[in-house]
Amino acid sequence: MSRTLDWWDQKAFPPWVIMDRLADIILSYVGGCIVEIGLGKSTFVLSRHAKNFGVKHYAIDTSQRKIDEVLKSGECDHDGLVIYNGRSLDFIKEFDDDLGLVFVDGCHKPIVVRQEADFFIDKLLPGGVIFFHDMFLCKEWGERHASIGKYSSTYEVRLELEKRDDIWCLTFPYTAVACGLTLVLKRPEFEYSCEELKKLGFEGDWTYKGQVV
Ligand SMILES: C[S@@+](CC[C@H](N)C(=O)[O-])C[C@H]1O[C@@H](n2cnc3c(N)ncnc32)[C@H](O)[C@@H]1O
Repeated sequence: MSRTLDWWDQKAFPPWVIMDRLADIILSYVGGCIVEIGLGKSTFVLSRHAKNFGVKHYAIDTSQRKIDEVLKSGECDHDGLVIYNGRSLDFIKEFDDDLGLVFVDGCHKPIVVRQEADFFIDKLLPGGVIFFHDMFLCKEWGERHASIGKYSSTYEVRLELEKRDDIWCLTFPYTAVACGLTLVLKRPEFEYSCEELKKLGFEGDWTYKGQVV
């Protein structure tokens, strides 16, 4: 099947459109603050949601230049914005807050992303979500990277995350500059097992008031 839409068109499909459309649902349901690793256009999107919900938005970047650019834009003027100029792995040593939504787009080395993932999954409120950028290498980007000898390996962490049973993991190969946006949702605290459901009488066809529906 050929593509019917041009997912490379950033005007039609801004890079963070999926996160933008889901953020208010996640924050309404889960609560908690926002953490963002790697500032840029994503900061504008997340700031808007932090402002609407009146929650803290921790924004972390090693580059003071990037931080200044984002602040100068005037698009992030809310009281809840907490800027941290430094490495994500240093930030997490100090971070302690209720956490509903995280966006990870900083250092792309698996050794770093893996530690970020472990820390934030542990810290997230149940039902909370982490979005990871660059976890799916499409054919076009793969060929482009190979031609300049660049090796993208963040997807290794996605393959590991997909095996964990304390989260649900889903990757969108489109939007996010066609580099993959992985959504990790921390599983709810309570979940029926099949045995428990059978004990409650849930077996076979769906029924309602004794009738198969
Ligand atoms: C791909 S850019 C982020 C793009 C941004 N999310 C956007 O929407 O445009 C990655 C950023 O992560 C920052 N960075 C790299 N390593 C980092 C680390 N270990 N901790 C925090 N930030 C880091 C870089 O300075 C850079 O600004």
